[in-house]
Order: sequence, then C-alpha cells, then structure tokens
Amino acid sequence: MSRIAYVNGQYVPHSHAAVHVEDRGYQFADGVYEVVAVRNGHLVDLDPHFERLERSLGELDIEAPMSRAALGFILKETVRRNRVTDGIVYLQITRGVAPRDHQFPAEASAAIVITARNAIPKVAQREAGIGVVSTPDIRWKRCDIKTIALLPNVLAKQKAADAGAYEAWQVDLDGFVTEGSATNAWIVTQDSEIVTRQTDEAILSGVTRLAVMALAEREGITLIERPFSLEEAKTAKEAFLTSTTSNVMPVIEIDGSSIGNGHPGTVTRALSELYERFAKGD
Ligand code: PDD
Repeated sequence: MSRIAYVNGQYVPHSHAAVHVEDRGYQFADGVYEVVAVRNGHLVDLDPHFERLERSLGELDIEAPMSRAALGFILKETVRRNRVTDGIVYLQITRGVAPRDHQFPAEASAAIVITARNAIPKVAQREAGIGVVSTPDIRWKRCDIKTIALLPNVLAKQKAADAGAYEAWQVDLDGFVTEGSATNAWIVTQDSEIVTRQTDEAILSGVTRLAVMALAEREGITLIERPFSLEEAKTAKEAFLTSTTSNVMPVIEIDGSSIGNGHPGTVTRALSELYERFAKGD
C-alpha cells in the first residue's frame, strides 16, 4: 500500500511529498512539531498535544495555520488514508516559505506537513528493560518549546546507539539529569516515591509524562517534581523513561551500572501496565 502525506492542503503520495527549498524549517529549523500515538486506529491523548502545539507556536510567534478542529480532522484523515492501526502521526508546522533572511518575513504563511505510519510495539523492550548512557546537555535554553531544531538530540541519540543503548540521558552543568534525547526521565527512590524533573525551560513537558503523573496520583503513588543527579539515578531503586513512542519504558542500566536488581521494578511495571491500558482506551 502506498503511503500518503498531507502537505500544505493536499494529500500527496509520500514518495512525492516535498516542501520548498526556502521553507524556513529547512533553512533555519524555524518550526515546531508533535508526535501523536495511534492505538487501534485512534489518536492517543490528542488534546494535550494540541495544547502544547499551540503553546510552541505562540512562543515562536507563528500563527496557527488552521483551527484545532480542522487539524484534528486532517490528522485523523492522514491516519485513515495510511491505514495506521498502531503507530504514530507526525505533524510539523514551520513559519513558511520566504527568501532567506534571519528575521521573520513580512509575508509568509505557516507550512504544514503531516505523515503517519505503523510502528512495531516495543513490547519486548518494555518487558526486559533498556539501557541508557549519559551525555552533557548541550541544547539551548528553551527546551520547553517543541521545535524541529533537534541536532543536539540527534547527537545524543547517536551516542546511545553507538554504545548499544536505547537512549541518552542529558546532564546539565550542575550534574542533574534534564531528560532523554526524545523522552522524559524518571527515577523511583528507595521509599518508592517517583521523581521527575519539574517542567521548566530545561525540558519538554511530555504528554506521556502528564498522563503518568495523573495515573500515579490515582494509584496513590507519591510523585515529586524536582531535579535528580546522575549519581542519584544510578543508585535509585528503579528508573524509567516516558514518551509517545516509548510509553513507560523501564531503565535497567545507566552507563553500564545496573539499576536496582537489574530488572524492571515493581513501581515501573505497575505504571507501564496502567499506561498501556490508558493508551488503549480501556
Ligand atoms: N519526542 N523530551 C523530548 C526532548 C522529546 O522530544 C519528547 C518527545 C519527550 C516526550 O514527550 P511526549 O511524552 O509528549 O512524547 C520528552 C517525540 C516522541 C519525538 O521527537 O519523536
């Protein structure tokens, strides 16, 4: 089956989907994106993605190209046309096409691209747990905006791949873990409290993070939002990461040191199961 992409008002064959060479996303990374999970053909937790998208656009002074309702329709239509049952839909909005000049162009309308694809669920990794490596956080000071400027994240993820790890946890100048290259970072303390960094400008406010926080609260699990150091993470009872594409993923090794007993912990497994049910809509 041939894939279909949505590009600036048209559904086109994926193989021919293209943007202009002077799209500011291409030249300046002047744009934002969202990745939404698709489960049983339904978009998971869509509203918080819209909220974050609108915030990202607002922070960059890019006018939303269409209403939430219209965007929702096109996202679902792209999923339908690609027959995605379990996978993701990717949405990117840039400031648009204009002759190259750093300042905002006087006239440009936002450009929008949407793609969707099926993805193999990461069940085995969630059961066994994964390893992360640490890396200095070399990103800019507005990581709360979900921009397409992802080169430091790309380098971090490559470092993980080169080390045979699943993810890289970025560490700030004070020794605190900020987040992964494309995931939020969590630990479970010896008192079985869960800890994740507060949402300041150093991290992205993950939609999965928010959902897990709500699930933890419902279960009566104590949650603390504060920074934790790499050293604290290495001696934690459990660790895990969250994202739209990883869900709740147990971390069993950091820089080669085993976390807890080297297997996914009980709190992590409980949250992972709760999240799977939530994402399925149970
Ligand atoms: N990444 N932190 C960063 C830097 C991210 O890029 C992401 C998401 C997250 C988790 O956010 P959420 O729970 O809303 O997916 C945290 C997406 C999946 C990506 O870039 O592919």
